Amino acid sequence: MKKVFKYIGYTLGGLIFLLILLFVFVYASSTIQINKQYDIKPSALKIPSDSSTIKNGERLYVLRGCTYCHGIDLSGKTIMSDPLLGVIAGPNLTKGKGGLPADYSDQDYVRAIRHGVGRSRKGLMYMSAEEFYYFNDKDLSAIIAYIKTIPQVDNVPETNVAGPLMRLLFLMDKAPIIAAKVIDHNAPRPADVKEDTTAEYGHYMSISCADCHGAGLSGGEVPAAPPGTPLAPNITFDKKTGIGNWSKEDFAKAMRAGIRPNGKPIDPFMPWQNFSRMTDVELNAMWVYLRSLPQKSFGEELAKSEQSVQEPKENNERNLKAQK
Ligand code: HEC
Ligand code: HEC
Repeated sequence: MKKVFKYIGYTLGGLIFLLILLFVFVYASSTIQINKQYDIKPSALKIPSDSSTIKNGERLYVLRGCTYCHGIDLSGKTIMSDPLLGVIAGPNLTKGKGGLPADYSDQDYVRAIRHGVGRSRKGLMYMSAEEFYYFNDKDLSAIIAYIKTIPQVDNVPETNVAGPLMRLLFLMDKAPIIAAKVIDHNAPRPADVKEDTTAEYGHYMSISCADCHGAGLSGGEVPAAPPGTPLAPNITFDKKTGIGNWSKEDFAKAMRAGIRPNGKPIDPFMPWQNFSRMTDVELNAMWVYLRSLPQKSFGEELAKSEQSVQEPKENNERNLKAQK
């Protein structure tokens, strides 16, 4: 009997030892990556200061979702605080107490927003620059012009923390907490797309849709969404599961007022409140672009990218029907 207990003891001790080793490994190797320095030369943008650019910058700040982490008054916001995952808190972007230093330069803004790198040359944590890298010079300059003019707000935001689970996911490439790591900083800038009601410009305006609606926009489960988030619908023009029966006016109403053609409201997790700031040209270009895409049945990409396809897909279709 005693022997059995001894073996159980050894096994447990061994397991605990392995866990501690794993923990130390995860912390050590994630810390090396988090502290990595990025020596990049951000484009030298000339930031305009005329009132119409600043007004457009305010619009783009909201439209592009900066409010989600930095708040509508830019004073910062805690969006997650969890013992396992950590703390995600957008910093104060005003020049008030707890905000950006007085000598924060135009280059510093470009380095942060386009490359996700801070003044210390370290990658900014949780700042989703990989989603902003493609902004053209005109739009990025307008956003910076706006940030530079906002009134000071005193707010000392929480410090960002990567918890143990977040670090593990980061090492497995499942949580891009350092955007600078996934951006190709030396790639040539994408050519500027002319602002017009073309599919090309619609694509420029729709790049973020894929984050939730999937690479081919056929919908499915939103990656890393909090529990209870509705499925992202198919927004290709498939007549059965997509928006193939919608008119241009239906689309405008969904994007601007969050109302579907059948009168059902669209959950605010779909950032239509931000998208409602689109101009007519932007919205129409997006319509032209979506119409030009191949029609897909619901969740097609998801089915391709996931291994356990059958079950979730059926579930998704069921849930989606219930949702509509
Ligand atoms: C998902 C949350 C999130 C979104 C969305 C986001 N940010 Fe950030 N941003 C952060 C966090 C967190 C930091 C601070 C990271 C750090 O200190 O390591 C940051 C840092 C910054 C900085 C640099 C501050 C400094 O100390 O150098 C600027 C400038 C900035 N963000 C602008 C923007 C703009 C403009 C947008 C929209 C186009 C935006 N952010 C969208 C989370 C976000
Ligand atoms: C943050 C995630 C997210 C992003 C980004 C996003 N969507 Fe959505 N979208 C959703 C979710 C979730 C729903 C379903 C909401 C519901 O069921 O009430 C939705 C619903 C919709 C609908 C209603 C479709 C229907 O059949 O009811 C349209 C249209 C739409 N999105 C278009 C877009 C476009 C265009 C973009 C890019 C400009 C976009 N979405 C970006 C998450 C997102």
